[in-house]
Amino acid sequence: MFIIREMMEEDILPISEIEGIAFSDPWSYDTIKDGKNSRFDTWLVLLQDDMVMGYLVLRVIAFEGELLRIALRPECRGRGLAKKLMDQLVEYSKNNSVESLFLEVRNSNEKARNLYRSYDFKETSIRKNYYRNPQEDAVVMWLRLT
Ligand SMILES: CC(C)(COP(=O)(O)OP(=O)(O)OC[C@H]1O[C@@H](n2cnc3c(N)ncnc32)[C@H](O)[C@@H]1OP(=O)(O)O)[C@@H](O)C(=O)NCCC(=O)NCCS
Repeated sequence: MFIIREMMEEDILPISEIEGIAFSDPWSYDTIKDGKNSRFDTWLVLLQDDMVMGYLVLRVIAFEGELLRIALRPECRGRGLAKKLMDQLVEYSKNNSVESLFLEVRNSNEKARNLYRSYDFKETSIRKNYYRNPQEDAVVMWLRLT
């Protein structure tokens, strides 16, 4: 059984571990801690048997929500868990008057792009050389909720 809930203090360390595995530009423990305290950001954490398996971060400013991060532990991928988090993201956004969601994703990240497409996110533009380490274009995707 899994549950999804908002982030608590005890989740910061496991999230920072997943960051280090999932991203080439991982957020530090302190960055995650600051994010937890940001009034613009909401962290949704997926736990199985009390262990943090994945999370996402939503930043809401003026009715627009930006999906800043979504990641699962490698051993938990391919089992539909990212979709469980995305379902909660959409529900949370609708309940909090978010009118549109957007995100940037690495051009080469086909798994994530497929995930977002399956929620009807549309690819609207490219940000040239947006990412470092390695340098890569970002694809910008939007989903209208209203
Ligand atoms: C992207 C990521 C979150 C997907 O998590 P996941 O739990 O494996 O995803 P799910 O099992 O819920 O699959 C959801 C959808 O993602 C896409 N997807 C997942 N794995 C895929 C793969 N190996 N190949 C192609 N598409 C894939 C599919 O559209 C899939 O839907 P489907 O099973 O109906 O075809 C996960 O791979 C991850 O943590 N990656 C590292 C971090 C990252 O790149 N985050 C995104 C940028 S912030």
